[in-house]
Amino acid sequence: PDTAIIVVAAGSGTRLDAGAPKALVGIDSRSILRHALDGVFAAAPAQVIVVAPAGFEGDVETEAREAAGDRVDLVRVVTGGSTRQQSVSAGLAALWGDIATVLVHDAARALTPPAQIDAVVAAVTSEVGVIPALPVVDTLKRVDGDAVIGAVDRSELAAAQTPQGFPRALLESAYAAALSSRVEYTDDAALFAAAGHLVRHIDGSARAFKITTPSDLERARHLLAEAAEVHSAP
Ligand code: CTP
Ligand code: MG
Repeated sequence: PDTAIIVVAAGSGTRLDAGAPKALVGIDSRSILRHALDGVFAAAPAQVIVVAPAGFEGDVETEAREAAGDRVDLVRVVTGGSTRQQSVSAGLAALWGDIATVLVHDAARALTPPAQIDAVVAAVTSEVGVIPALPVVDTLKRVDGDAVIGAVDRSELAAAQTPQGFPRALLESAYAAALSSRVEYTDDAALFAAAGHLVRHIDGSARAFKITTPSDLERARHLLAEAAEVHSAP
């Protein structure tokens, strides 16, 4: 394959606060990471770099092998860093072979539909990055302390998801530039855009939400239980 997917799973999960690195926390019988990787391996074949929390590389390797099945030769596990940007950097450094397109995906978006991954790959060009995004549905206010000081026009806003896809050469040079500027970007699209490149968005999906808090984990559990009921119905 000429596409690689870097799955960043090295975060500690402070807000989930589940007593283990977030990616290794169970949703049902399978962990957040395992669900994310099942989605990745249900998409078109790609090289897969899994970025693990330091000290948990063995557990991550086991999950990655199980998820990969006969695609195990396409998988590599590396150790992450203390920020997401450092973890992505570690993933980029581990790419091998002739990769033209790189996707960066949050393991925490465990239920992302495989079709969303394929759609991002299809939309990346040699110059343009692509992110899935959803329209913002809430009414947004600009605030200052407890004062509401204005409205925000939500029609010009979108909520970014992953996987985010980029031409490899430009993403690598953008990461090098970010390293020397010492700026921490909120996501890969912001880092890529800061290097002067164009980013487009395609439709995201509700199922690609990020598991961040305990209530997000509950939501994922409900979605999987619902699917299990449908499948076991007579
Ligand atoms: N991530 C990573 N390395 C880090 C920080 C985050 O690989 N140093 C990954 C997480 O594993 C996750 C994704 O980036 O898949 C999105 O990050 P987030 O949801 O913020 O996860 P955590 O940083 O683990 O959670 P928290 O911010 O609540 O601690
Ligand atoms: Mg975080």
